[in-house]
Amino acid sequence: MEQSTRTGSHKAKATNRLDNRTLDRIKEIITAADGQAGAPIRVSQEVQGLIGHLPLEALDVIAKEMRIPPSELFGITSFYSFFSMVPKGKYLIQVCLGTSCYVKGGQKIIDALKKEFGLEPEGTTSDRKFSLKTVRCLGCCGLSPVLAVNENVHRKVKPRQLREILSSYQ
Ligand code: FES
Repeated sequence: MEQSTRTGSHKAKATNRLDNRTLDRIKEIITAADGQAGAPIRVSQEVQGLIGHLPLEALDVIAKEMRIPPSELFGITSFYSFFSMVPKGKYLIQVCLGTSCYVKGGQKIIDALKKEFGLEPEGTTSDRKFSLKTVRCLGCCGLSPVLAVNENVHRKVKPRQLREILSSYQ
């Protein structure tokens, strides 16, 4: 039987209702950035810093208050990788899918993370403990397949080791 670490994940549809205090603070950020070069990016960065991510509701508020088309703002925030529409986990798992790691089983690690933890690339576990992204090389191809949890690199990883590796992060 699966253990309680099966957490599920959520992607871009995650939106929390923003409270009035947060909405007021967003409006203050917009007012402060008014007329500045790159204001939509600056505002989006500050709002992400305030909330921890950029939910759709926040993007709608920014677009409306700054009088820019929502599609334009969405295009900007989709272009830059530092923007995220989903909450990020406490730990970022980076699984390498560069050539060497892919050949040695990187995709099997991704498949196991989905099967065992409900965690998909660009997703976050519902307990917000882990986020997952794929990368193209972590610089230690001779020890592939490789994954990193925050700054800790785990080498020659087998899918059956994942539960033990992740349980070491509290
Ligand atoms: S290809 Fe994975 S570490 Fe280089």
